[in-house]
Amino acid sequence: ELASKLVQEIAKKGDEIPEEYLRKDGFPEAIDAPDLWRGKLLIDFSLLSSYSATELAKLRSALSQWGCFQVINHGIDISFLEELIEVSKQFFALPLEEKLKCSAADDIVQGYGTDSAYSGSQTPNWNDRLFLFLHPKERLRHECWPQKPEKLREMIVEYSKKISTVNKVICKAMSRSLGLEENCLEFGKHGPAMARLNLYPPCPYPERVLGAKPHADHTVITYLFPEKEVEGLQILKDDQWYKVSVIPDALFINFGELGEAMTNGVFKSAVHRVGTNSEKDRISAVMFFNPDDEEVEPLSELISAHKPQLYRKFNMKEYRPKIYESFRLGLRPLHGFQ
Ligand code: SIN
Ligand code: FE2
Repeated sequence: ELASKLVQEIAKKGDEIPEEYLRKDGFPEAIDAPDLWRGKLLIDFSLLSSYSATELAKLRSALSQWGCFQVINHGIDISFLEELIEVSKQFFALPLEEKLKCSAADDIVQGYGTDSAYSGSQTPNWNDRLFLFLHPKERLRHECWPQKPEKLREMIVEYSKKISTVNKVICKAMSRSLGLEENCLEFGKHGPAMARLNLYPPCPYPERVLGAKPHADHTVITYLFPEKEVEGLQILKDDQWYKVSVIPDALFINFGELGEAMTNGVFKSAVHRVGTNSEKDRISAVMFFNPDDEEVEPLSELISAHKPQLYRKFNMKEYRPKIYESFRLGLRPLHGFQ
């Protein structure tokens, strides 16, 4: 019955989309903000690796005010990233039977599918995906990895390695930007790492349907390379939605709830959503990193009389069930750990 829930299959039927996808009251519109994305939320990675004081200050203010930024000069070959999007597109264009080989019946989270399979009563997202754990080894499910296109498996592994390399520098720069030792905010070494390829098919009712409803990621940090042709990602700040401008060759980076907890709320997780459009498919390639330790707590260096501890220490075993609850109920799980 997964097949009937796949957005790509629903989209093929044209204007007849199930009522449950339509938001009764629509949703607030997002504004364009090209100056923001070319200004204070655009970070030059090459300056971060040399610990430029102005770039570190920019990073700190982006993460403490917006919880996200874009990076240029990240060192990842653009032709590799473009090919990844292209090959992902080829994956989603395969016949349904071929893609369904990457779905594990006992694991609706991983593999090929759509999140509406477990979102319950919430308005489902107009989105299909291929979601894969790369670490830890126990979570790796080889049967969820695509056989076709032949190149894709290798490219996902390669993508995760390239993003990990960028992540190492970002972690150090974030620590330094807070005046901490460079290994204070470290993750992505042995903690869970996941890759997600998203497909947002064209939607006949873009003003009433979201590709992803508002959420903060359940991660420390998220790296995203979006399709360049089509915009879709939007972020929320002070009750205003902003469209994320597509900056050529840039990676979009956002902080997640677990990162917010680890920094005692000094860095914010960005609440974001994805809009739809009636014309074109949109693809994005995402990497998620979770904490290296199962125990999560704010860094003691970021707790003071002036900045009291905002989140209690918790175990990922407590947090994980809240993620699934949040898919059903639309809560921010971290708010339960204050
Ligand atoms: C997501 O945050 O769920 C995906 C974002 C994107 O595809 O742009
Ligand atoms: Fe997200």
